[in-house]
Amino acid sequence: MRILGIETSCDETGIAVYDSKLGILINNIHSQANTHSKYGGIVPELAARNHNKNIISLIKDALSKTNSSKNNIHGIAYTAGPGLVGSLLVGASVAKSLAYAWNIPVITINHMEGHLLSTMLSNNELSFPFLALLVSGKHTQLIKANNIGDYILLGESLDDAVGEVFDKVAVALGLKYPGGLSLSILANDGISNRYNFPKPLINKPNLMFSFSGLKTSVINTIHSLSSINYQDKANIAKSFEDTIIEILVNKCSKAMHISKLKTLVIAGGVSANFKLRFYLKNMINKRKGILFYPKQELCTDNGIMIAYAGLLHLKNGKYNNLKTSIKSDWKIDSVN
Ligand SMILES: Nc1ncnc2c1ncn2[C@@H]1O[C@H](COP(=O)(O)OP(=O)(O)O)[C@@H](O)[C@H]1O
Ligand SMILES: [Mg+2]
Repeated sequence: MRILGIETSCDETGIAVYDSKLGILINNIHSQANTHSKYGGIVPELAARNHNKNIISLIKDALSKTNSSKNNIHGIAYTAGPGLVGSLLVGASVAKSLAYAWNIPVITINHMEGHLLSTMLSNNELSFPFLALLVSGKHTQLIKANNIGDYILLGESLDDAVGEVFDKVAVALGLKYPGGLSLSILANDGISNRYNFPKPLINKPNLMFSFSGLKTSVINTIHSLSSINYQDKANIAKSFEDTIIEILVNKCSKAMHISKLKTLVIAGGVSANFKLRFYLKNMINKRKGILFYPKQELCTDNGIMIAYAGLLHLKNGKYNNLKTSIKSDWKIDSVN
């Protein structure tokens, strides 16, 4: 079975072809980072226009390089939410038009489910049920994954998402958007414990997160310094990153304790962070559990995760009619 995956939830146009026998055939990603970096964040209107401009050439390229056509593509999976309305509509319209023209199934995929399931692509031994920490630019969620399409939301951020906070602090430190990776690299030169930033909700027994107070505290600290050199920036980045990781590890440990599950998945853009993986692994080893995460190049938004999730749903006999559209606030616990 061969699936065309279309991801346009935010600012990456991801077009991919996944084949159940041959695996990943192509993973085309057009990043709009340069377009949005001068604004320090995503401009939704520009994002939608850019998807519209690039999507057809990315699809043509993906099909021709993989010798794919209406004759050997069995379904088209697209991100139906959560995401920016204008961006989602571009992917949905193209996916439905092609599915109509080729007379093949169209499968609506929840973006967060795509992140979660992408972990299975490179980890054969991962099996349900498991816990998942989904950390991206828009979401911070703890999930209990019972099966494909069957997810329970255990906790989430009450305000900002982890990736968003990385990006905002990175901008305040003079780094280019999206700054998660460059902030983490800067933190490698920082001295530990130079700053004591708040850890909201860390002592609460629940699995909720809150990051906006931490973000404000770090940004206020940056602005309060009359002058700031490279070492100051690295020290702030280090204390900030350590604080975020401590909060995430703490809540994952609580989730493992409460659920009695020994398997944890981390997925979403921030799961590319090596230090987060390292400290989660330490915690999980002590609990005699096991940590899984997607391949590095599949951590951030891409079309493969959508194609692969589409394949799993199609194999289960789940696809949509052409009247299905988008749900910009689609929650992962309501995918079925
Ligand atoms: N190594 C890293 N450390 C921390 N954050 C990272 C790292 N790599 C990427 N990120 C963050 O991941 C986020 C993007 O996640 P992604 O899932 O691709 O996007 P979206 O939120 O649009 O779904 C950005 O906020 C980015 O800064
Ligand atoms: Mg994402």
